[in-house]
Amino acid sequence: MSEKRSSFTGKIGFILAAAGSAVGLGNIWRFPYLAAKYGGGIFLLVYVLLALTFGFALMCAEIAIGRKTGKSAIGAFHDLNKKYTFIGVLASAVPIIILPYYAVIGGWVTKYITVFVSGQGAAAADGSYFGGFVSQSVEPLVFFLIFMAVTALIVLFGVEKGIEKVSKFMMPLLVVMTIGIVIYVLCQPGIGAGVKAYLVPDFASITATSLTKTILGAMGQLFYSMSLAMGIMITYGSYMKKEDHIEKSVHQIELFDTGIAILAGLMIVPAATVFGGGIEKPGPGLMFSALPVVFDKMPGGHIVGAVFFILVLFAALTSSISLMETIVSIFCDKFGWNRKVTCLVVFLGCLALGVPSSLGFGLWSHILPLGMDLLTFFDFISNSVMMPIVALLTCLFIGFVIKPVTLVEEIEQSGRFKLKKLFTVVIKYVAPICIVLILISSVLDAFGLFKI
Ligand code: PHE
Repeated sequence: MSEKRSSFTGKIGFILAAAGSAVGLGNIWRFPYLAAKYGGGIFLLVYVLLALTFGFALMCAEIAIGRKTGKSAIGAFHDLNKKYTFIGVLASAVPIIILPYYAVIGGWVTKYITVFVSGQGAAAADGSYFGGFVSQSVEPLVFFLIFMAVTALIVLFGVEKGIEKVSKFMMPLLVVMTIGIVIYVLCQPGIGAGVKAYLVPDFASITATSLTKTILGAMGQLFYSMSLAMGIMITYGSYMKKEDHIEKSVHQIELFDTGIAILAGLMIVPAATVFGGGIEKPGPGLMFSALPVVFDKMPGGHIVGAVFFILVLFAALTSSISLMETIVSIFCDKFGWNRKVTCLVVFLGCLALGVPSSLGFGLWSHILPLGMDLLTFFDFISNSVMMPIVALLTCLFIGFVIKPVTLVEEIEQSGRFKLKKLFTVVIKYVAPICIVLILISSVLDAFGLFKI
C-alpha cells in the first residue's frame, strides 16, 4: 500500500464525500424508528449529547489516524503499532455485516419507487401493505438483487464520481423535500401530541433498564449514522490534505448528519403517532408504513412520494457504494486480487449474506435469534456489539498506547484544536468506561442472564 494517495480537492470535497457516506438510510430509515422505539424525546437528548462528545471525539480521532498514516484501517493501525493491527481488521469486518442487510432495505426503497411511480401509492397507505410485501419470498429478494447489482456495477466501473456529482444536488433536494414534508405534517390537525412525544423527554417514564437500552441504541445509531467504528472515516482521512481543518470539518459533518436525522424523525414519528402506521411496535418498517399515509393525505402526494423515495435511493446508494468500496479495497489490498474479481466475489458474498435478512420477514420468520428477526439481528450484531467494541478498542489504543497527544498534534497541523481537552478526556476515560458498562449490561440482558 505504498501508492501515493490522491487528495480531495479542498475542504468542501472532503466534507461532501464524508457527508455522502454519513447521510443515508441510517438517518432517514433507522433514526426515526429508534427514536419511536426508545421513548422519543429521551432518545433525542441522549443522541445529541453522545454526538457532541463521543461522536465528535471519535470522528476527529479516526480522521486524524487516516491523515497521519495515509492508509486505510488495517494499514493505519499496523503503521501506528504492529501489535494492534487486529483493531483495523475488526473494524473492517463491520461493513461486511452491514452491506448485505443495507441492500435489503435499499431494495425496499426501490420497490416503493415503483409503487409510487406506477400510481399505486394509495394502496401502500394501507396498514398491512408493508407487512404483505416483506413477508413474500421472491419480490423483496428481486429488489434486493437489483439494489445490490446497481451498487456493484457502480463500484466495478469506478463511476462513483458520477454518482457523487449527481448526489451533490440530490442531497440538498432531499433536505428541502424533507423540510417541506415536515411543514406539511406539522400543519395537520391533532399533530401536537405526536410532536410532543417526539421532542419532549418524558423523564418520569425512565427506568434503569430503559435508559441503558436507550443509551446503547443511541450509541449504535451514532456510530452507524456517522460511519464510525468501521474504518471508513480512517480511509476518508487518509485522503485529506494537511492544511484542512479536521475539527471544523467534523463539526460540519456532524451538524449535517444529525440535523437530517432529527428532521427525518420529525417527518415520520409524529405522523405515525397520530395517523397510525406501525407506531405500536416501531421497527424497520416504520418509514415504509408511516410515509405513504402522509403522502396519501397530501395533494399530489403520489408525485411527492415518488420523488421522495428516488432521493432516498440516492442517499442510500452513496452509502452502499462507500460500504462496498471499503470491502473491495480491503480484499484487493490483503489478497492482491484484481478489482473485477473482487467486486464479483463481494457481490456474490453479499447476496448470500443478505438472503436471510430478506427472508426473515416471511419464509424464515420463525428463526428468531435473541428474539429478533434476522435483519434486526444482523443490525444488532454490527451496531450494538461490534461497533461499540471497535470504538472501545480504538479509544483505549489512542488513550494508552499511542497517546492522545499524537493525534492532537496531527489535528493541530492545520490550526488550533479548540476542544482538545474534551477530546482527550472523552477518548481516554469517558468513552471507554461508558462503553464497557453499557456493553456488559446490554449483552447480559440480550441473553436474558441479567435483568437490569
Ligand atoms: N452512515 C450511513 C447511513 O447513515 C450508513 C453507512 C454505514 C454508510 C457505514 C457507510 C458505511 O446510512
